[in-house]
Amino acid sequence: MNANDLLSQDAKVISNALKIRFYPMTAASASGTRVIDSAGKSYLDLSAGWAVASIGYGHPRIAQKLQEQYQTLSFTTQLTVPEQNMVALAERLIDMTPGSFAKKVWFGHSGSDANDCIAKLLPLARNRARMISFMGSYHGQTMGSLSLSGHPAQAKFIGSGNVVKLPYPNPYRPPFGETESLTAQVMHYIEQEVFRTVSPPEDTAAIVIEGIQSDGGLLVPPDDFLPALQKLCARYEISLIFDEVKVGLGRTGKWFSFNHYDIVPDAVVLGKSLGAGLPISAVVAREELLDVGYGVHMFTTSGNPLCTAAALENLLIIEQERLIDNAAKVGEYFRQGLEGLQERYEWIGDVRGRGLAIGVELVEDRVSKTPAAEKTAAICYRCYELGLLVFYVGIHSNVIEITPPLTISREEVDQAIAIMDQAFQDLAENRIDMGKVKEYAGW
Ligand SMILES: Cc1ncc(COP(=O)(O)O)c(C=O)c1O
Repeated sequence: MNANDLLSQDAKVISNALKIRFYPMTAASASGTRVIDSAGKSYLDLSAGWAVASIGYGHPRIAQKLQEQYQTLSFTTQLTVPEQNMVALAERLIDMTPGSFAKKVWFGHSGSDANDCIAKLLPLARNRARMISFMGSYHGQTMGSLSLSGHPAQAKFIGSGNVVKLPYPNPYRPPFGETESLTAQVMHYIEQEVFRTVSPPEDTAAIVIEGIQSDGGLLVPPDDFLPALQKLCARYEISLIFDEVKVGLGRTGKWFSFNHYDIVPDAVVLGKSLGAGLPISAVVAREELLDVGYGVHMFTTSGNPLCTAAALENLLIIEQERLIDNAAKVGEYFRQGLEGLQERYEWIGDVRGRGLAIGVELVEDRVSKTPAAEKTAAICYRCYELGLLVFYVGIHSNVIEITPPLTISREEVDQAIAIMDQAFQDLAENRIDMGKVKEYAGW
């Protein structure tokens, strides 16, 4: 089927509830860092399909594992008849996460159902009804996970009333007006406002946070923020939960975003890249947080042998191909390249990130910092036309998200920077067809 036919059929039969579209891309095949569309054109992919394809597309070791596993044991419902892959993966995840206390693992299929696990089980486990999370956060689209979320994508729905949302410590747009004392200001707000009013600490089960707030705009908190949050949680015996669905498993240049600090979360939520493209998510947590009863949060195909076999092999590949090291080094190189672009284009207000989780925030000018959403959409669209896939995020829809496969090379970064440079130049010289850009709703 050619691209036009595919897209018009897709428009007819696929629900808009499942769509975030930036341009008329289709995918026919993919390998490594490149995706091929139905016309045979090849694109360098800086999205990794929303940060899923961390080891690149079509890794031969995963293909082989899946074939072997399907032939040996295509399925068993782990809820009732367990097999070894699920247990081995749980043991591996327990070893990888910090904390010498007793831990257990829960498995699901998406970041959403894993965060739903947190939303359901934590209040029960802690016998405290309330939860705290952050404005701008994206934890998922199921009712529990959307209740924890604070992103415009969930704003049409009224989530559970037990969650209070805090301003995320955004150094570029500080919620209380100052960047220097951002950590102190947010801590003060929690203790002096939130704890005294809507979420008393003795009734607060957990604080849920993304170590880098991803869909909120790739926001990196000040260095002292997450350690201070951990201290605060310890002081009030509140569980600290890290949602590592997007930036976990090597993307930031360490296994987890919280590994950049001396932090031991009470629970870690994983998804996206865990299954190398297969749907699997996990919560690794203190045993007492997950063992609140039999069969209280389960799905028939949870932890199935194909997804867990893929995940085990995926973790080995990340380690053996030294992809975390690559993410750190090439990520730094990428950021330098983007900072070079920032010197040339006034619209680039901020370049930030860690490893290969990078955000490029576009503004109308650097003084007003007015979010440049249309320009962001135009840049992403033009990059697509020029053979580069990038998506945008942010509560103002003005942050280009760079989350490529962790296998990306310096040469590919050079290609990406050259294409982005061209796109900015085309924008400056009005060579982008804004009519076409506006056909796509984005998000
Ligand atoms: C940090 C984070 N948590 C959870 C989710 C939800 O994951 P899923 O789309 O697999 O349900 C996302 C998705 O973007 C995410 O970025």
